[in-house]
Amino acid sequence: MKRPQVVETVSDLRTVVREWRRQGLSVAMVPTMGALHDGHVSLTRIALERADRCVVSIFVNPTQFAPTEDLDKYPRQLAADLDRLAEAGVQLAFTPTAAEMYPHGFDAKVAIGGPSAGLETDFRPTFFEGVATVVAKLFLQTLPDCAVFGEKDYQQLCVVKKLCRDLDIPIEIIGAPTVRDADGLAMSSRNAYLSPTELAVARQLNKILRHAARSLQSGASEQETLEKARQKILAAGFGAVDYVEARESDTLAPWQRDRDGRILVAARLGATRLIDNVEIVGI
Ligand code: PAF
Repeated sequence: MKRPQVVETVSDLRTVVREWRRQGLSVAMVPTMGALHDGHVSLTRIALERADRCVVSIFVNPTQFAPTEDLDKYPRQLAADLDRLAEAGVQLAFTPTAAEMYPHGFDAKVAIGGPSAGLETDFRPTFFEGVATVVAKLFLQTLPDCAVFGEKDYQQLCVVKKLCRDLDIPIEIIGAPTVRDADGLAMSSRNAYLSPTELAVARQLNKILRHAARSLQSGASEQETLEKARQKILAAGFGAVDYVEARESDTLAPWQRDRDGRILVAARLGATRLIDNVEIVGI
C-alpha cells in the first residue's frame, strides 16, 4: 500500500493539482479534521468512484471551535491517518499548519444564512462561520471538481451546499450516507472520548430517532413524538438534549408533513456532545 503524497503548503498543493489537470485527470476532495475512521474512508471511496484523483485535507480548524470546546484535546494521529488513506488508495493529503491557513492579518469570515440558522448555531454560535470560511478556503486552494461530505453532519452538508450555490463555486457537493456500527452508532472521531458505559448509552440514540421517524411517518403528532424522543434519550442515560427537531431535508426549514425531512439531534453524554440525524419520508 502506497502512502499518499503529503503537502503542507497551498503552493505545493496547487503544483500537484495543476499537474493532474495537465494530464486531463478529474479531482475530488474530502475535507477532514483527521482522526480518520470508517466513515471518512467511505467518503474517500465515493470520491474515487467520482474522480481520478482524491485529495484529503487534514486540518483541525481552530476557527470552528469555541474557547470552551475540545480544540486542544481533539484527537490528532497523522501517521495512522496516512495509513488509512493508503488503504483507501488516496493520492494526496493536504496537512496545512494553522499559520498556512490563517497567516498573520487574516480576517475574512464567510457567513451563510439559511440552513445555518438554529440547531447547532443555537449552541455553537460561531461554528458554521468557521466551517464555511475554512471550506471556502480549502475549495479555492484545491479547486476540485467535486467534494464529498458525510450526512452525519447534516446541517454542515446543507451549509456547504448553500455556500457553493450562493457564491457560484463550481464544485459538486456529494452527500454520503452515515456509516454506523452494528448497533447503529454513527462513526465519529469524538466516539473515542466515550467510556464503555457511555458507548452503550450512545448506541441507543439512533434507535430512538428511527422509532420517532417511523411514528411521524405514520401520522403521529410532531410535538408529542419529539418530546417522547427527548425523554427517551434522557432515560437512556444522556445528561442533556440540546435539540431534537424535525426539519425539511433541503432547506432545514421547519418540517412539513408532505415533504421529506430529517430528525436532527444533539445530546450530551458526560463531556462529549454527539449529533445524529435520520430521514423522515414525507407522507
Ligand atoms: O466535518 C469536519 O470534519 C469539519 O467541519 C470540516 C468540514 C473538515 C471543516 O473543518
